[in-house]
Amino acid sequence: TELPDDLLSPEAVRDPDGAAAVLREHDPVHWSPTHRAWLVTRHDDVVAAFRNPALSSDRVRPVMSKASGDASQRILGLISEWMVVTDPPAHTRLRRLSGMAFKQQQIAAMEERIQALVDELVDAFLADGGADLVAGVAYPLPAIVIAEMLGAPAQDRDRFRAWSDELALVAFGAGGDARPDRHERALRGLEEMAGYFRELVALRRREPGGDMLSAMIGDGSDSEALDDDELVGMCALLLFAGHETTTNAIANAIRLLTADPALRDRVRDDPALVNPAVEEALRLVGPIKVLVRWVVEDHELRGRTIRRGERVYLLLCGANRDPERFYDPDTVDLARERATHVAFGRGIHACIGAQLARIETRIAVGTLLRRLPGLRVEGEPEYLPTIASRAQASLPVTHDGVPA
Ligand code: HEM
Repeated sequence: TELPDDLLSPEAVRDPDGAAAVLREHDPVHWSPTHRAWLVTRHDDVVAAFRNPALSSDRVRPVMSKASGDASQRILGLISEWMVVTDPPAHTRLRRLSGMAFKQQQIAAMEERIQALVDELVDAFLADGGADLVAGVAYPLPAIVIAEMLGAPAQDRDRFRAWSDELALVAFGAGGDARPDRHERALRGLEEMAGYFRELVALRRREPGGDMLSAMIGDGSDSEALDDDELVGMCALLLFAGHETTTNAIANAIRLLTADPALRDRVRDDPALVNPAVEEALRLVGPIKVLVRWVVEDHELRGRTIRRGERVYLLLCGANRDPERFYDPDTVDLARERATHVAFGRGIHACIGAQLARIETRIAVGTLLRRLPGLRVEGEPEYLPTIASRAQASLPVTHDGVPA
């Protein structure tokens, strides 16, 4: 068997799960000369890797010196401070302070608001004869939710969306944008965004509210409290980490669940099935295919020597369909036991927005199935050529019209 080595090959972009399955079966800890990284595909190995101190999350700084151009250096400099790319003890402090803010937000209490937003977006989608569910619903929803959570004025929503796009462009080359000025444009976007958040921070210091940013600022009693730069970085990270991922969760779930009309109608007719259906979508077509770790200590894995300075790609898409872990792994099974998928990661960096993301995805999926009966996605998926995310730029749909 020829092993799929290049995760950006047209075949691997079209069918990442197929590529991961071949690796998982034939060489579960595979050295890829193309990526100069180890490709790890088994559920047990991926879960263990999340808890392995020999694998560092500090993966931006090591590539900074190699980045070409002033603009990309400066962008990476900003991103390298984000919690998601830090290790303890820096991570421990950032996680504690942001975690407190998430708790205070009482995410569950936002359900009503998210339902209202989804209904508003679906109304507008229907009113202008909408055909693309990404542009109409999946893309705008999470940006609006994060903007509101951070306490940004509603009229600034569209700017959030633009910034998050620019950011995706640089950080992950999303969209395959190869325009020569993309780094300069992204840096301008990033600096504009930083300026905006800086003003928002100043405003919330003067006039605290019930929002997450005010909670992260705190009341002055915490000796480890975040400074202004860190608050700005945290706002940018939340926007970035919570936007594209949730967009893709909604779009991928809709494609998966409507591909089988009987399944689609079952989920539509029984609201209790929406949660397990969304969990299966996260497992089977999760928004993140691959997470990267940086090796800081030599160690052995399945007889391979993983060396300091190398990179490890954790293929969540391999782990989530591992037959050792999931019976009949490629099938949607609404009766599966509680989720053991790794779509949100594990360990100290496990997604801090998972509860929010689940609520948004469940409400969006449940509402779309209910309000657009006979929902169908046209054509085969076209995934953007990126290693990390399973992203569809659009979701062309038809349906049988609005129920009376
Ligand atoms: C971390 C997935 C939505 C904020 C992560 C990680 C994964 C993930 C896999 C772990 C990264 C790592 O270990 O390197 C997802 C998916 C989402 C989603 C699939 C949507 C379905 C959100 C939302 C927010 C968010 C809505 C916030 C509003 C974060 C943050 C981290 C994170 C801040 C870093 C946590 C840390 O470093 O301790 N996410 N995420 N995510 N996520 Fe999410």
